Amino acid sequence: MTSPSEITIAANHIKEGKLVAFPTETVYGLGANALNPHAVARIFELKERPTFDPLIVHIASLEDVKKLTVTEDERVNKLAARFWPGPLTIILPKSDLVPDIVTSGLKTVGIRMPNHPVALELIRQSGCPIAAPSANKFGQLSPTQAKHVSKQLPDVDFLLDGGKAQVGIESTIISLNEKGFEILRHGVITREEIEAIIPFYAVPERDKTNIVSPGMLKSHYSPGKPIYLMNENLPADIDKTKAGLLSFSGKNTANYQMVELLAPDKELRTCAVNLFAAIHRLEESNVEYILAEPVPETGIGIAIMDKLRKAAYRYQR
Ligand code: TXA
Ligand code: MG
Repeated sequence: MTSPSEITIAANHIKEGKLVAFPTETVYGLGANALNPHAVARIFELKERPTFDPLIVHIASLEDVKKLTVTEDERVNKLAARFWPGPLTIILPKSDLVPDIVTSGLKTVGIRMPNHPVALELIRQSGCPIAAPSANKFGQLSPTQAKHVSKQLPDVDFLLDGGKAQVGIESTIISLNEKGFEILRHGVITREEIEAIIPFYAVPERDKTNIVSPGMLKSHYSPGKPIYLMNENLPADIDKTKAGLLSFSGKNTANYQMVELLAPDKELRTCAVNLFAAIHRLEESNVEYILAEPVPETGIGIAIMDKLRKAAYRYQR
């Protein structure tokens, strides 16, 4: 776990333009000073991430929204009051302070205030907003524990261990248009929860002028061995005795080599918390492939199914 002096050392790394992997409530982030383009460039290098995929900027105070964006939109204050600190990222028009490399040249920037004491203290002590993607190699599994970070990014300048992520999947990302908000990435904060604060409005595809979210790729979150979503594109020649099962229901678990029960309490929230850690364990085990049972596609289940489909995408037959 993290000691206060470790946070200070990590903050000094950020000030010097180095990279720090740090805990948030969703997943671990790979952070750099968001206002230092050279430091941010190193994130893309270490992650092997294409530079067309923009980063989220993490803040610890609402004052930073004013500095990083050029918006007077009252909806931002309403959303912040309800959901920040927390797993919601809001895409807003960026100010000139934000280097282009952070936003991949887009005129907008994604902002979020993480709900984790270590992350907030790191941002405060660094004295700058922190740009951070999830701390994994591009396209691979997201880290919910410090050891997941060391596995994929052993060369990071500093790693702060803040224990297991309490939410377990990435933040919900929304954009705002004249009539309402749209969801760019599903997370544990659901459409219904946000709609209780501001209206939802999906801009028709034909009216969209530019690509809104270049990072929303079809293939993502992939473990280092095949993963198949059951009932969809499942190969006929699957041998259960060589397979690891990701089980939500706890039913039909017989004969698998390994079973990861995602939510003993049957709660989708618990499933989200355990999802990536369970896939990491199956990746490290000697099962040949992973079978994932679909979860009910409502509420948080929408985000979970999105992750599973993206993880399985490249293994479709
Ligand atoms: O929970 C999270 O959001 C975690 C933690 C570390 O905060 N971060 C995270 O970052 O998931 P990353 O880089 O793995 O995913 C960020 C996503 C990308 O798919 C990117 O395309 C999208 O956010 N994004 C960032 N800035 C954007 C912008 N200006 N417009 C549209 N999409 C944006
Ligand atoms: Mg990511």
